[in-house]
Amino acid sequence: GRVGVLYGGQSAEREISLKSGAAVMRALETLGIDYVGIDIGRDSIGELQKAGLDRAFIALHGPGGEDGRIQAVLEYLCIPFTGCDVQSSAIAMDKLRTKQLWRGIGVQTPDFEVLTQNSDWPRVLESLGGEVMVKPAHEGSSIGMARVATSAELESAYRNAAGFDSLVIAERLIRGAEYTVAILDDEALPAIRLETDHRFYDFEAKYVAGDTRYICPCGLEPEREQILRHRALEAFRAIGCRGWGRVDVMANEAGEFFMLEVNTVPGMTSHSLVPMAAKASGLSFESLVLAILTESLR
Ligand code: DAL
Ligand code: MG
Repeated sequence: GRVGVLYGGQSAEREISLKSGAAVMRALETLGIDYVGIDIGRDSIGELQKAGLDRAFIALHGPGGEDGRIQAVLEYLCIPFTGCDVQSSAIAMDKLRTKQLWRGIGVQTPDFEVLTQNSDWPRVLESLGGEVMVKPAHEGSSIGMARVATSAELESAYRNAAGFDSLVIAERLIRGAEYTVAILDDEALPAIRLETDHRFYDFEAKYVAGDTRYICPCGLEPEREQILRHRALEAFRAIGCRGWGRVDVMANEAGEFFMLEVNTVPGMTSHSLVPMAAKASGLSFESLVLAILTESLR
């Protein structure tokens, strides 16, 4: 059957999605699978109906493509699609609701507060340990994020983040190592440790500077890594996610793991993290694409 590769979109992560989409299409080409690319920002939703798709590979990042909206359209059109369903996509795209849900069932995630223009900046900073990450609740790729340690910085980071999203949170900064765990077919793949010389793993570090160090095997003792992978898989399932995705995690200096967020359509460029974790478990990029696609038919 014919696979529609949905890419582009209109979110702030459009440029990343163009790359993910292109990489997925190259893989389908190599695999000899019939496909058509659909740029969801440029082509209308009507194209989806006309394209005669047997299933859709969603390579869209950010609001619109990763938050349940396109998933709902596909469901309505009875086109099977890769990855998470409407509800889990919507929850995962919202960092606040994700954290509230995790808190409710005992999944460890850093302390947080919702920011508003009336926030008491010094009090927020103090109650969250003096240094925080400011995050628009619905963005990806670190867009609109900042790491701040003073009231003035916090207020200006809030104003900047509020330009991306009406919902902005501050999260306690966890000092320690950063990990990411890819999930495929309801299994956690080998964890990757990320090291950056930037103040945090920001957009620059992710896509521009090329100076982030990706360490896999991640350097944890095998039992510790098993715990990390298990916690990530639990956090993924807790939201109702299925298929594939990626959970971002921080470890504090005592080695406790804190779940940051779930990405339900993680980057699929040739330099992205899920492909890297797949490779570490012996799966080529093409096999990964095939596994994601196959899962969508279950
Ligand atoms: N949001 C980006 C695409 C990622 O998680 O890889
Ligand atoms: Mg994300």
